[in-house]
Amino acid sequence: MQGIDRNTLTDAVIASFEGAGDPRMKEVIGALVRHLHAFAREVELRPEEWRAGIAFLTAAAAITDDKRNEFVLASDILGLTSLTDLLQGVPGATERSVLGPFHAEGSPMLPVGGDLIRDNAGPPVLVRGRVLDLEGRPVRGATIDFWQTNALGHYWQQDPTQSPDNLRFRMPLGDDGVYAFTTVRPAPYTVPYDGPVGGLLRAGGRHAWRPAHFHFRVLADGFAPLTTELFPADDPYIEQDAVFGVRASLAVPFVTRDAPEEAARHRLPNPFALVEFDFRMSPAR
Ligand code: BEZ
Ligand code: FE
Repeated sequence: MQGIDRNTLTDAVIASFEGAGDPRMKEVIGALVRHLHAFAREVELRPEEWRAGIAFLTAAAAITDDKRNEFVLASDILGLTSLTDLLQGVPGATERSVLGPFHAEGSPMLPVGGDLIRDNAGPPVLVRGRVLDLEGRPVRGATIDFWQTNALGHYWQQDPTQSPDNLRFRMPLGDDGVYAFTTVRPAPYTVPYDGPVGGLLRAGGRHAWRPAHFHFRVLADGFAPLTTELFPADDPYIEQDAVFGVRASLAVPFVTRDAPEEAARHRLPNPFALVEFDFRMSPAR
């Protein structure tokens, strides 16, 4: 190819993908090249800055393994993960939020009304609600996959004192779509900051904290899988999640409930905190 100059380069690179068999791939790569070049032109990217970017990616690759993915973390702290979640949004459906790196397949089964507190310390919480469709009807045959940190902000994967079955479950729901469980209030925690993403956060004057949260993945035949989180509305980091996962609709009150009979029914101390939330699922696409 001859005659490349700063005015013709971008179009030449885009045209080089002309033969792509997949039209969507051609569209995405074409837009990526256009925006990447526009970014470099806008900031007049210097060679040493380009090298710093490549060094960042190289360091991310070096620290990435089957337990830790620094590229996903970079996407998270740059808001790209949340943007793809928000772009998937369906009016009336529960908003999506990040999956994070601590979801694991094969959580133990828990019946509706089951208990996760066991020997975990921390403020007791009763969480309950329903899984509904966009018309407000119960979704039949849904399953909730759930995971959270303990009250010190540690997942079982980060804490050898916790059993691998701690603070997570899969719950098959009945035809009424009702779910309920007792647990402890989770705590805020930091995303990993000992790698290149941590360096980027520090250089940007940012912190690594996430507000406390419950993770949910709700699955049902005929519905789009729903990955989301619920946050205590009064969490100190609710306005400054390092990965931009908080949505106003997902920040929920942990209401103090003084109800001795209900507490006894759920084998909870009285008073306890109550979280009520209905999930709204959109049809599969
Ligand atoms: C989490 O919620 O577990 C998480 C999400 C994004 C990055 C790191 C952790
Ligand atoms: Fe998390």
